[in-house]
Amino acid sequence: MEKIVSLCKRRGFIFQASEIYGGLNGVWDYGPLGTELKNNLKQYWWKVIVRDRDDVVGLDGSILTHPAALEASGHVDTFTDPMVDCRTCKARLRADQLAEKNGTKQCPNCGGKDLTEARPFNLMFQTHMGASADPASIAYLRPETAQSIFVQFKNVLDVSRKKLPFGIAQIGKAFRNEINPRNFTFRSREFEQMELEYFCRPEQGMDLLAYWLKERIRFYEEIGINRKRLHILDVPDKDRAFYSKGTFDIEYEFPFGRQELEGVAYRTDYDLQQHIKSSGKTLDYFDEETKERFVPHVVEPSAGVDRTVLALICDAYDEDSAPDEKGKMETRIVMRFNPRMAPIKCAVFPLLKNKEALVAKAREVQALLRSHMNVFYDEGGAIGRRYRRQDEIGTPFGVTIDFETLGEKGEELRDTVTLRDRDSMKQERVAIKDLVETISSKIR
Ligand code: GAP
Repeated sequence: MEKIVSLCKRRGFIFQASEIYGGLNGVWDYGPLGTELKNNLKQYWWKVIVRDRDDVVGLDGSILTHPAALEASGHVDTFTDPMVDCRTCKARLRADQLAEKNGTKQCPNCGGKDLTEARPFNLMFQTHMGASADPASIAYLRPETAQSIFVQFKNVLDVSRKKLPFGIAQIGKAFRNEINPRNFTFRSREFEQMELEYFCRPEQGMDLLAYWLKERIRFYEEIGINRKRLHILDVPDKDRAFYSKGTFDIEYEFPFGRQELEGVAYRTDYDLQQHIKSSGKTLDYFDEETKERFVPHVVEPSAGVDRTVLALICDAYDEDSAPDEKGKMETRIVMRFNPRMAPIKCAVFPLLKNKEALVAKAREVQALLRSHMNVFYDEGGAIGRRYRRQDEIGTPFGVTIDFETLGEKGEELRDTVTLRDRDSMKQERVAIKDLVETISSKIR
């Protein structure tokens, strides 16, 4: 894991937030490459879940949330983790994550065994709206994106005029005051979720749970996660929320252990019923054909953006060997991102930076590709070094403009370039006019 964390910082995927002030625990900033990777992931999720389907629409809800909504959902009273204090070093710890030695729980910081009784700690971040900080002005930063979907259910139904089953999808920030943020970005205090609430008739719930689990596994395969490192946990009755009739956790084998990436849960009609009770509003559905009025049930695939980005990074990291400029084999770090997810799709290199004609042609090729994909231009250093730099950030294609491109080695090669594949390191000669289609077909 250290190698991955170090690469993330060195190459600009992920930085500690407020680093120059000593860092903010459990909060992360995405650098230039991390931002591209995260955007590619979110855009692909949005395409598959919303744009490619007729039965799902989107929502972008607010982060500041009315306390009544989170009282109704149960978050104000029960969204807690059990916390203990270590009386020796004063650390605050999550009781359910403490290691035991000879049957006694121990503080992971100092090894002390003098711990307080566990007590519930609410994970929500509270703030105040407006000028006075009194109980009437309390608002919360949302702990999940889901609740704004339930609260806006009626408005979205009215404007979209969808028939059941249909879904409302959202990508956005969520905040949880985790007692012990850990494992790099895995457990953060500020993170993003990609959530779908798929509303249905009660009798469709269990089948749709199975359907969405399959769809979501397919998604992870499509973004390049190795299926062998994905696991499905059928959450047993005793560990499920009391209102859920079935929940699957999709887990990934991180270097620090097998951990949850996404939950796919059949939440029955619990959330809508809670908001009906608390708001006094009708949040139901009228079936034109059967003339029935009822509160829909819901199946929820809820994924973490940051956890999926971390899984993409862990899954892509590889080391192999490649020849250096003198032909001596050296270790190569290569991020084998699926081209669809790769932050930069293609790097463009003039063979030499002091040959004006090569540079001009390379800039031309960059301009040609730029409107179709994220391209990076690099003219600094030996060509082998430039390839290595791109391998380390997972750029799947490299285009080199050489003397053949200029027609100096025969007319038949004029306006052709070498196209290098990151994984096989093989190079092929491709006409500039065919470049866009050749690369585009592999990154869609
Ligand atoms: N609406 C249901 C819900 O929020 P959850 O299992 O609490 O369910 C869903 O969260 C997903 O959000 C998780 O599977 C995980 O990917 C992500 N997530 C939750 N807490 C997180 C945290 N502290 N840091 C990063 N991601 C988190």
